[in-house]
Amino acid sequence: MRTDYCGLITERYVNQTVMLNGWVSKRRDFGSLIFVTLRDREGIVQVVFDEQKNKALFDTAQKLRSEYVVEITGQVVLRDASQINDKMKTGRVEVIAETLTILATAKTPAIPVEDGEQVANDELRMQYRYLDLRRQSMMNNLRLRHQVTRSLRQSLDEQGFIDVETPYLTKSTPEGARDYLVPSRVNEGRFFALPQSPQLFKQLLMGAGLDKYYQIARCFRDEDLRGDRQPEFTQVDIETSFLSAVDIQTLVENALQKVMKDTLNIDVVTPFPRLSYQEAMNRYGNDKPDTRFEMELVDVADVVKDLEFAVFKNTLAANGQVKAIVLKGEAANYSRKDVDKLTEFVAKFGAKGLAWTKVEETGYNGGIAKFISEIAEPLNARLQATAGDIVFFVADKPSVVAQSLSELRLKLARQHNLIDNEKFNFLWVVDWPLFEEDEETGRLMAMHHPFTRPVNLDLDQLVSAPKEAMAQAYDIVLNGYEIGGGSLRIYTREMQEKMFDVLGFTQEEAQSQFGFLLDALESGFPPHGGLALGLDRLVMLLAKENNIREVIAFPKNSKAFDPMTQAPSVVDNAQLEELNIQLLVKQNNTNA
Ligand code: AMO
Ligand code: AMP
Repeated sequence: MRTDYCGLITERYVNQTVMLNGWVSKRRDFGSLIFVTLRDREGIVQVVFDEQKNKALFDTAQKLRSEYVVEITGQVVLRDASQINDKMKTGRVEVIAETLTILATAKTPAIPVEDGEQVANDELRMQYRYLDLRRQSMMNNLRLRHQVTRSLRQSLDEQGFIDVETPYLTKSTPEGARDYLVPSRVNEGRFFALPQSPQLFKQLLMGAGLDKYYQIARCFRDEDLRGDRQPEFTQVDIETSFLSAVDIQTLVENALQKVMKDTLNIDVVTPFPRLSYQEAMNRYGNDKPDTRFEMELVDVADVVKDLEFAVFKNTLAANGQVKAIVLKGEAANYSRKDVDKLTEFVAKFGAKGLAWTKVEETGYNGGIAKFISEIAEPLNARLQATAGDIVFFVADKPSVVAQSLSELRLKLARQHNLIDNEKFNFLWVVDWPLFEEDEETGRLMAMHHPFTRPVNLDLDQLVSAPKEAMAQAYDIVLNGYEIGGGSLRIYTREMQEKMFDVLGFTQEEAQSQFGFLLDALESGFPPHGGLALGLDRLVMLLAKENNIREVIAFPKNSKAFDPMTQAPSVVDNAQLEELNIQLLVKQNNTNA
């Protein structure tokens, strides 16, 4: 049986005989010596086969190829001084082989499996995931994820939370995405929905008296995918009874503080800073601001309002906004062409242009300088701009100003290395509006979800002035990513019904979809609230990766397709018949 892991063989083992199991990472032949690096989950170690010492063993070693699985016994010795490799954890020693058994052979791997080699493209990496996961960096990510969940479980357990599982075959919960549906064979013509979150079940557990629930739960959402979204992802889902929003936030802060200490040995200060939604939008144009650098959005409407510059004037006349960001000290590095590229960039977010100027000792230069020179002094004061800076302005309706300047701010910060990668800036965004208006349909939608408790409990006001209603909701943000969201919940039938009403549900619809919740709310329901952390995003940020796929063992691609198993796939007609399902489209077996 194996005595030790390859990657752990250090000077401590010198003169000991070890038995190792692992994969052949490299074989190098030097005449009568063969060097093999052997890899397992802990890392690599060098093994030496010496023809002079054992000819038969040497001959077997010659058969070794990359990714063969072997068992080796041998003695650990110090390397010659000239052979020491301080970059390797095991680089001061090597194992002089005494026995070798080939346990499995391997075809030439379809993708590189060593760190440091060029990494294959993402599709291939997902197709051959079992090979990709052999890379130490991926192995480290999986381990980090394990450590994060272990810490979270420990902390939540210590804080009195009880882990309860809730169903995956369930009824649709509105979290704003499309559902993944599962046909029921037994209940003909009916479908389960995979949960977008355990929201309603965890609320019902509060009704049951569980008081503090948590679950590390898979959630399923059929939505447009991005680097921080997967169709199935994992939440650390939490619900509590009788606590205030701040109490709940504190429990979460404690858990995250422990995670940071246990995994990265970083002490984070609690309580985390809090920013209102409005302030986040005003200062960053973003409800999940990256606060690791400044370059905040500055409203200049009152300073520019009397200018004859049509772009600003017309926008303000139409109740729009004029805001700017200042890129410090980079003016000299920007040509008109560079600015044109940025203009194309902000156009993607609806900006009709990108006005700019450079700040010099003597005034403004370039771009819209001639239109704004007369207000140079107050404008510089507002912008806190000094010679050498370049200023970018967007004039438009608030949503376009916010999105385009916020994206530009992030792009410029990345481009000019303004972001300190060692920082972990946790932040609560609080005081959210209860509703948002769909820009196309004008319909009101719950900004968080329909179970969120309004700040003001006056029901008539909720109906008469819904746009003013504020929610008892909070998001937690880390380095510009929303890593969690939660709220206090509605806990009376009356208020929940009003809520559905404002959201445009008829009474019948509300009863048929959520009757079980409405009925439960009449059974003596405690005030309650909670939160869910996006585990994949949290681990991605701790691993300093920029796609959550890097911290998920078997992820889907951007078309919600798994290149390895080729799921989703066509099914037998017999299976469809059994389910009483007839397809409107012909089944097509080519890949997504
Ligand atoms: P919410 O919808 O905000 O809240 O989800 C909570 C957190 O889950 C993460 N997340 C995702 N991560 C990866 N891929 C996705 N497609 C994805 N969607 C969401 C985010 C997000 O902050 N039931 C409520 C929570 C509550 O009110 O307690 C909920 O699901 O990090
Ligand atoms: P124009 O007067 O259209 O030539 O525009 C003058 C400058 O203002 C150009 O740099 C445009 O990119 C910029 N611009 C045009 N529309 C806007 C807008 N809505 N916001 C900011 N800048 C704009």
